Parts: sequence; structure tokens; C-alpha cells
Amino acid sequence: MMGPKALCLMIFCALMAWHMHTTFSADYEEPWKIMFIHFLEKICEITASVLENLGIMSYWEFYNIITKGYITQPTSDENITVKETKINDILVRYYVPKRNSHKLKRGMIYFHGGSPKFAKIALLPYETFARRAANRLDAVVLAPDYQQSSKYHSQTQWNDVSDFVKSLLHPETLAKYGVDPTRVCITGDSAGATITAALTQQE
Ligand SMILES: *[C@@H]1O[C@H](CO)[C@@H](O)[C@H](O)[C@H]1NC(C)=O
Repeated sequence: MMGPKALCLMIFCALMAWHMHTTFSADYEEPWKIMFIHFLEKICEITASVLENLGIMSYWEFYNIITKGYITQPTSDENITVKETKINDILVRYYVPKRNSHKLKRGMIYFHGGSPKFAKIALLPYETFARRAANRLDAVVLAPDYQQSSKYHSQTQWNDVSDFVKSLLHPETLAKYGVDPTRVCITGDSAGATITAALTQQE
């Protein structure tokens, strides 16, 4: 005999499988990895909503708790020197490749994604991306904690970000980080991609 708990779990798994099957086409690399990560994300979303609806904690409180375990320190490794600094009151974590250190390098300004309620550059997925990009591209990656630095959002945050990029793009500032001013790109994911798109269309 199947207990009601087992039945619920089966229905839940079947619904999840159906959801993932309908959401994804097989036309990308490592489909199982992506499905697994998506599955975990869905579980978190559902748990956060359930906890909020039960009045136990707010949606974002839950995210803050589960992401606490993924906060990293600015730690250098065999390939990359990682440091933090402040530019215009915005905390910036930057990644400098150790090889060819005598030459000016390409520069990449990276705006991470995620909600300002919990996302920061120190979180493992953003940190991993920045570190790998620096290593693979042999580029200095400068990743501002732009969401945390501004108490207000929309216009104020936009002005802060825009001023930050202008300060950073000064040739003397770039030289301080070993960046060749003729080879700088700006990139971002999700919320950071919106910022990137807006910046690149600014006069
Ligand atoms: C350092 O770089 C090499 C070559 O890209 C790579 O194989 C190695 O895993 C890197 N080390 C770390 C700690 O990321």
C-alpha cells in the first residue's frame, strides 16, 4: 500500500518532470546539468512561496538564508589575484591574471545579475564566472557590487552605475588595474545585462 506522503511525492515529481519537459528543448550543451539546476531553483521558489504564505518568513528572507552558504571571500589562486577596492563608494571585486603580468591586459566590467534583495558579487556563481572569465580571456575582470551600494533603486542606482563606469573608464584609473584602455568590454547577466544594455546605448 502506498501512503499519502509517497503519493504526494510521486505527483510532485511527475509535475516537475512534466514542467521541465515542456520548458526545455534539447538544443543546448549539458541539458541534464541545466535541468538539475532549474529543478533546484524551482524547489527553492516553491519553498520560499510556501513559507511566505504560511507566515513563517518572507520570500527574500528565505533566499538570504540559503545563499549565505555561498558567500565567498576575495581569495587568490594559482592563476588569479583577487582583491577588493572602492570606486565612487561602490565596492569592486577585481580579478587580475598572474601570467604576463608585465603587459597591459584586456578589461572586462562585469555586472552580476540576481535580485538586489540577496545578490552580490561575492556569491559563488557570479564569483566563479568572473574568475573563469579572467583566467580564460587573460583579462582583468572588474565586478562592482552595484546593487548593494545604493539604498535606492531605479534612477538613483542608474546614476550611481553610470558615474561609476565613467570614473572607471578614465585611462589613469584603468592603468591602475593594468588594463589597456583600447580593449575594454562591459558585460552582465540578467539584471546586470539590463544595466549593460542601457550603458552601451548611452551617449
Ligand atoms: C589555472 O589555470 C589552468 C589553465 O587554464 C587550469 O587548468 C586550472 O584549473 C586553473 N586553476 C584554478 C585553481 O582555477
